Amino acid sequence: MRVAVLGATGLVGSEMIKVLEERAFPVDELVPLASERSAGKEVFFKGKPYEVRAVEEGAFEGVDLALFSAGSGPSRKWAPVAVSKGAVVVDNSSAWRMEEDIPLVVPEVNPHALEGHKGIIANPNCATIQAVVALKPLHDFFGLEKVQVVTFQSVSGTGLEALDELKEGSLAVLEGSSPKNFLYPKPIAFNVLPHIGKIDERGISEEEYKMMNESKKIMELPELVVSCTAVRVPVFRGHSEAIVATFKEEPSLQDAFKALSEAPGVSLMDDPGCSYSVPSEAAGTDPVFVGRVRKEPLCERSLSLWVVADNIRKGAALNAVQIAEELIRKGLI
Ligand SMILES: NC(=O)c1ccc[n+]([C@@H]2O[C@H](COP(=O)([O-])OP(=O)(O)OC[C@H]3O[C@@H](n4cnc5c(N)ncnc54)[C@H](OP(=O)(O)O)[C@@H]3O)[C@@H](O)[C@H]2O)c1
Repeated sequence: MRVAVLGATGLVGSEMIKVLEERAFPVDELVPLASERSAGKEVFFKGKPYEVRAVEEGAFEGVDLALFSAGSGPSRKWAPVAVSKGAVVVDNSSAWRMEEDIPLVVPEVNPHALEGHKGIIANPNCATIQAVVALKPLHDFFGLEKVQVVTFQSVSGTGLEALDELKEGSLAVLEGSSPKNFLYPKPIAFNVLPHIGKIDERGISEEEYKMMNESKKIMELPELVVSCTAVRVPVFRGHSEAIVATFKEEPSLQDAFKALSEAPGVSLMDDPGCSYSVPSEAAGTDPVFVGRVRKEPLCERSLSLWVVADNIRKGAALNAVQIAEELIRKGLI
C-alpha cells in the first residue's frame, strides 16, 4: 500500500511513521509530506531514509492511504485533492470532524461509523478520544446521561514549538528571570492555564466545545449533557482528565470495574479505587489508563474517574493508524 503522511516532520506525523512501523502496517511505499520549509529533510522508516516533499497535487498520485496531521488549513485544502486522486484520508485536524457525512471515529467505540465513508475520516480531538474510550464501556452497562470533565493537557498538544516554550520558560524561572509566552496567553512554566483555543462570548473555549460536541457524535448520544473545563498544564506529554459521569441506572462499583477491565484499549489500575496513572508513565504507551474509580458521595448515580493517556499516541497517531487498520479489516480501502 502507498501511504502518504502529511505533516511528517511534526510531533504527530513523526509518531504516525513510528506507529506504522511498530504495528507492521502494510506500507509498500511511504510518501512523507510537509510544507516548503521541510522539503528535502529526511525521515526514517524501517531504517531507511525517505526525503520529505512539499505537498502539491502530484504528491497524492497513486496514494491509497493519506494520514494528515498538518492543521486545519492544509487539511481543508489537500484532503479533497487526495480523495480525488483515489486516496482515503484519515485527518487529525479539526477541519472535518463535525461535518455530518464525515465519520469521526475511535475504533474501540464506533468502528461501524466507517461504513459508507466518502473518502475522508476524521480523527477526534486528543482529550475527547481518551474520555470516550473510558466512558463507552460504562455507558454500555449503565446508560450515560451526563459527563463533567476537567482536563489537564500537556503542551505537546500544541505541537513541537510548545515543547520549547515550556522548556525555555522553565529554565528562565529557575534562573530567576521572567518566562516568555509566544504560543500561550500566559507563561506556561510552573503555571496552569484554563484556556485552550479561543474563548467565545459565552465563556467557552474551542477545546471545551470539542469535548462537548465530538463526544456526543462519537458515542451517538445527541442528548448527552457534557460540560468541560480544559486546562493546559506544564507537562510535556500525556493528558489527564478528572471525569464525573452520571448514569441513568445506579452503577455498582463491581460492575464498573468489570466493564472497564474488559474494555478494549483501557488499562484499569490494579486497585481501581485508589491507584492511578500519571502522564510520565503513560507517555510512549498505548492504553487509556483509568484509575481512582469511585462513587460520587453526593450523587448515587455518578462515578468519578481519573483518565490518563499519551495524547500523541492514542490521542492522535495511534488512533489514526487503528482507523486505517479497521478500514483494511472491513475492506473499506
Ligand atoms: N499534538 C497533539 O496532541 C495532537 C493531537 C490530536 C491532533 N493533533 C492535530 O495534528 C495536527 C498536527 O499537530 P502536531 O502536534 O504534529 O503539530 P507540529 O508538531 O507543529 O507539526 C505540524 C506539521 O504540519 C506541517 N505543516 C504545517 N503547515 C503546513 C502547510 N501549510 N502545508 C503542509 N504541511 C504543513 C509541518 O511541516 P513543516 O515542518 O514543513 O513546518 C509539520 O510537519 C494539528 O492539526 C493538530 O491539531 C495534534
